[in-house]
Amino acid sequence: MSNPKSESALGGQFTFPGTSLTVRRIGYGAMQLAGPGVFGPPKDPDGAVAVLREAVAAGVNHIDTADFYGPHVTNQIIRQALHPYPPELLIVTKLGARRPADGSWQSAISPKDLTDGVHDNLRNLGLDALDIVNYRAMGSIHGPKEGSIAEQVTVLADLRRKGLIRHVGLSNVTAAQVAEAQVITDVVCVQNNYNLAHREDDALIDDLARQGIAYVPFFPLGGFTPLQSSTLNDVAAVLGATPMQVALTWLLHRSPNVLLIPGTSSLAHLRENLAAGQLTLSPEIRAELDGIAAAAEANRG
Ligand SMILES: NC(=O)c1ccc[n+]([C@@H]2O[C@H](COP(=O)([O-])OP(=O)(O)OC[C@H]3O[C@@H](n4cnc5c(N)ncnc54)[C@H](OP(=O)(O)O)[C@@H]3O)[C@@H](O)[C@H]2O)c1
Repeated sequence: MSNPKSESALGGQFTFPGTSLTVRRIGYGAMQLAGPGVFGPPKDPDGAVAVLREAVAAGVNHIDTADFYGPHVTNQIIRQALHPYPPELLIVTKLGARRPADGSWQSAISPKDLTDGVHDNLRNLGLDALDIVNYRAMGSIHGPKEGSIAEQVTVLADLRRKGLIRHVGLSNVTAAQVAEAQVITDVVCVQNNYNLAHREDDALIDDLARQGIAYVPFFPLGGFTPLQSSTLNDVAAVLGATPMQVALTWLLHRSPNVLLIPGTSSLAHLRENLAAGQLTLSPEIRAELDGIAAAAEANRG
């Protein structure tokens, strides 16, 4: 592994617009640390703590979470593993859902739900203020749906004025919803479903890049059904890398405002994912990989 302290480590660095928050482009998504179905405690709590500690020791300074993972479980594991937090560590959380006792995903978007969600995150993470909070719109579950998000973003902007939130981001949103939110408050990042095979946000990524806003793909490896593609496998074999590493490196090449938060509960996968920052893809290989989305789209259609 390259020196974790160097500027080029983990895919280089990115500074969120209008902030002093700089992170390495390869971060870590903590959702996989809860139990099966992102509900309840993990099978291996010590393993979850070990993954987080190794990520930070390797130079990761951007962790994505939510208090509704578990619920509460993932944030409590982050606190157990890493508190008191290193000053350079950015923990990004999200609001907009709740998990009742039956394990279902319900929206939680009233002003009270959102305010309670901030306090749940503060308590379980052991923080006085949250650096970045994404408003996660329910949309059509793993994709966005048009409709006003002004009421919810206004609540987050109020919580920002009160000092409980430092910066606002959005998740599972359309370009129109980003524009609507920007009238209310500054938006520093957008977290949507995107990967090598799922590229509905291509235009949005380019638009956010022009504005210096981070685009943070969720499901960068395909999520609950990790990416499967013979082209990806062939390219990986030629490069002496794994398919998941190639998928992550492709995202790093996609645009300089793309930040990675691959999720894993495995130390071996964590190491593999962090090493993706050392891979480069030639224009020819990128063109070959670009064909995967069109093939996936044809299969879906
Ligand atoms: N805003 C939202 O709505 C939203 C939705 C979903 C997720 N997220 C965030 O985005 C992060 C990333 O998404 P995700 O974790 O759902 O999906 P992901 O990163 O695309 O993929 C995670 C899956 O891939 C496996 N995996 C990870 N590294 C691997 C490797 N090197 N080789 C083989 N398999 C590997 C994991 O299993 P193992 O544990 O076995 O490695 C897990 O099953 C989450 O952790 C969460 O923080 C946000």
